[in-house]
Amino acid sequence: MIPVELRCHHLRDPEGIDVAAPRLSWTLTADEPVRGAGQRAFQILVADSRERLAADEGNLWDSGRVDSDAQSQAYQGAPLRSRQQCWWKVRVWPASPALRGAEGNGVDRGQDDCRPAWSAPACWRMGLLDAADWQASWIEVPFELTPEMPPGQIPASRFRRAFELAQAPQRAVLFASALGVYEVCLNGTRVGAQALAPEWTDYRRRVQYQTFDVTAFLHPGVNTIAATVCEGWYAGRIGFWKEQSQYGSFRPRFLAQLHVSVQSGGEEVISTDRRWQGSVDGPIRFAGLLDGQITDARMGGSDRDGVAWEAVRVVAGLEQVELVAQMNEPIAVVTEQAPISISRAPSGATIVDMGQNLVGWSRLRLRGKPGQIVNLRHAEMLDERGELYTAPLRCALYKGSPGPHHGTYGMMGGARQMDTFICAGRGAEVFEPRFTQHGFRYVEVTGAGAPSPSDITGCVVSSTVERAGWFECSDPTINRLMDAVRWTQLGNLQGIPLDCPQRDERLGWLGDAQVFCQASCYNAGMAAFYAKYLRDVRDAQWPNGRFPDFAPNPLGDKRAMGAPAWSDGGLIIPWTHYLHYGDRQLLADHFPAAKRHVESIATANPDFLWTRETGNNYGDHLNGDRIVQEYWRTGGSATPVDVFATTYFAHSAALLERMAGVLGLADDRQRYETLHQSIVRAFRASFVDADGRIQGDTQGGYVLALHFDLLTQPQREQAVQHLLRLLDARGGYPDTGIQTTNRMMLELTRAGRVDVAYRILNNDRIPSWRYMIDHGATTIWERWDSWSETNGFQDPSMNSFNHYAMGAVAEWIYRTIGGINPDPDAPGFAHVIIRPQPGGGITWANTRHRCIRGTIATDWRTEAGVLNLEVTIPPNTAATVHIPCRGEATVTESGLPLDKAPGVRGWRRKGEAVVVQLGSGRYRFNRRAAPDGCEGRR
Ligand code: BGC
Repeated sequence: MIPVELRCHHLRDPEGIDVAAPRLSWTLTADEPVRGAGQRAFQILVADSRERLAADEGNLWDSGRVDSDAQSQAYQGAPLRSRQQCWWKVRVWPASPALRGAEGNGVDRGQDDCRPAWSAPACWRMGLLDAADWQASWIEVPFELTPEMPPGQIPASRFRRAFELAQAPQRAVLFASALGVYEVCLNGTRVGAQALAPEWTDYRRRVQYQTFDVTAFLHPGVNTIAATVCEGWYAGRIGFWKEQSQYGSFRPRFLAQLHVSVQSGGEEVISTDRRWQGSVDGPIRFAGLLDGQITDARMGGSDRDGVAWEAVRVVAGLEQVELVAQMNEPIAVVTEQAPISISRAPSGATIVDMGQNLVGWSRLRLRGKPGQIVNLRHAEMLDERGELYTAPLRCALYKGSPGPHHGTYGMMGGARQMDTFICAGRGAEVFEPRFTQHGFRYVEVTGAGAPSPSDITGCVVSSTVERAGWFECSDPTINRLMDAVRWTQLGNLQGIPLDCPQRDERLGWLGDAQVFCQASCYNAGMAAFYAKYLRDVRDAQWPNGRFPDFAPNPLGDKRAMGAPAWSDGGLIIPWTHYLHYGDRQLLADHFPAAKRHVESIATANPDFLWTRETGNNYGDHLNGDRIVQEYWRTGGSATPVDVFATTYFAHSAALLERMAGVLGLADDRQRYETLHQSIVRAFRASFVDADGRIQGDTQGGYVLALHFDLLTQPQREQAVQHLLRLLDARGGYPDTGIQTTNRMMLELTRAGRVDVAYRILNNDRIPSWRYMIDHGATTIWERWDSWSETNGFQDPSMNSFNHYAMGAVAEWIYRTIGGINPDPDAPGFAHVIIRPQPGGGITWANTRHRCIRGTIATDWRTEAGVLNLEVTIPPNTAATVHIPCRGEATVTESGLPLDKAPGVRGWRRKGEAVVVQLGSGRYRFNRRAAPDGCEGRR
């Protein structure tokens, strides 16, 4: 068994780690999926050079043999210095059957005296650990706003410095950041593939820096370092605010510190300071995240004569802004999309269809005349005439009309999503605007004739999280739904989880994020991403302790302060993270903030009902009352806001209790258990009547009470009946909002009514997932009726076609069709609960999830009462498998009775399933109806 996929702080070979004890982790692979393979012990070596490590010398840390099945360990060696590069490897001893409890033939018995092989080496580099390590100063180009250069029309700031190296560099490491978004070049070559660095944080408190090994970029003699910084989230217009510069400065800033060590042992440090030059006289005339980029290629060329380079200004007063290493996967172009068609709209405009709603920008190749102006406008949909449908971008909702080249939009809202390229006219040119971002499927091209499909490409931009989930089943619509969910996730991961990527909003709304969090963890490796985002959430915590509605939150006032369900994302997300990644440290870091949040609600609501300080109590956003269809009765779908809020208060207290339990904080655990019980009692007393009716009598209300375990057993049963009654009254359709739709699927399933959940999945009128997919959605719509055959587009003031909240159903699909469930008692998939529940006419499903221990897979097929289920469990992972099995049906594994099957332990019947315990390996179960056919009886 060899450890593979070594990670430091959830990342592979990261550059720039600034925690003292980075978490090291690995997965295990076996040549054959051996049954019952486990890890009994591990040893980690960490060295300060590759050579030392190769000689098995852990001069920084030799953990020695540690008897543990853990596949992660915080570094415990010699204190690490800033910039230190660490090389590491790990080996593991297999578990003996006695320890693993495995039995039977073919089980890996383990060898205690063996000398296991080491993994391949991995590495990480420390960042700059102390504020005192920074010699660099923040610099800016000291331009002023003028009538020609008003707010919102500010060109890129450029910075440069030449420096001489007497000798060839032995090692060169660059630390760089910006207040704005930046790219840096060394000797004319762009460093790194990241886009929109340093990403969005609360720049008043914290900004991320990026670390690059740039040894290969430098040479003896004169070298140049140059950077381009555009306004980004820092200085530009963001969110739905009309004003620029939420963080106080319209001038972007840059910071860099380059450490070059040479053969002779010396070191040179080149840092941003007064010696740098700056200019706003470059080809990027403007770049805003919402509005687009304007590039005048005639002004290109790094040494173009006549560029007005001037001395930069060193910016004072930014000392309180903490510099932290970026420890999440950078945003970058993750894939490219070729157009599926290029056609002419009635207006004469050329419309490029990328065939997929995506987030990023388009890259255009062309040959133009000097000064020729090309415009690229982006939108998610076409209108009924076949023209670009830009209304949901909300430009027209604000006063004034946008003029050419971004005209007077500076003080308007909306997201123009328009790029302009002014050709240099010197042969073939490529326009790729990398300092902006658009949500689009369609591009309207004007001024460039009709490009051919190979001339224009959709560049898909996302945080580069690794894919972790795959699903395919016999129903092509469900497969397309799952693809759409994945694309929606991809587009909305931009250093933070966005609500939507296109209109003037694009905020890290916690209400959407918590609803989708678990689905996102099935789809991708989200550990580092959410660790970063949760810090943003803590940074946005209000002085009274309340988590915000969205993070980062540049607003200085109390708008968006702590609404129920939204602010509670500050507990739901870290708990989901813990379930999937088992990272106790993350919980420990977050716990004090989570506690302040719950205390802030408790203090304001001594009667345990969350009725005061509910902020913008959005309730169950987009519930059925927001649907506009002739056949759809509105009214009665909205869960009363007090009921809604109190369910989340209870849930947050319960999560806090669980976190305290994990962290061994007995007093806190006691306190929040008591608080939770008090809330539950108050909820039942105030909102649940003798018939189990919950105030408001809404589907969503029953779902929340069930999902957050607020009811007695008899009340649970009543709640399920009420929910079924309300579903019946709507003809089997849900009228739940974003907070309760997926939770309803989960609760119907938990209540033994998976048949009803499948019926909902199979619904095909509005509101349903099938309706969107059948009507061309390639990402999840914000509203069930974002577009309908009868009414066309919904209200453009809130109508996104790339909103993941309703895509949370992917969680239900992974759990119920795929049957892969984390176990809260063994987080990080140390133990997995496999429980596929075939239904809904689906005859086969193939599901894989790459968890931190390796790949868990299920593959099932049903035919005439026979179910074949193949289950794959990675090494060092235990599983409980529930095989649906009614009546007298028999179950075998690889043709053997269960009590003879190697690696299968302790099988028993439980309700309508046979339940078995397994260790790692691949197992082929077969369930066959008894000869008398009673299996089908019910
Ligand atoms: C966002 C939502 C968000 C909501 C708060 C909307 O504008 O797009 O997804 O949760 O505001 O109600």
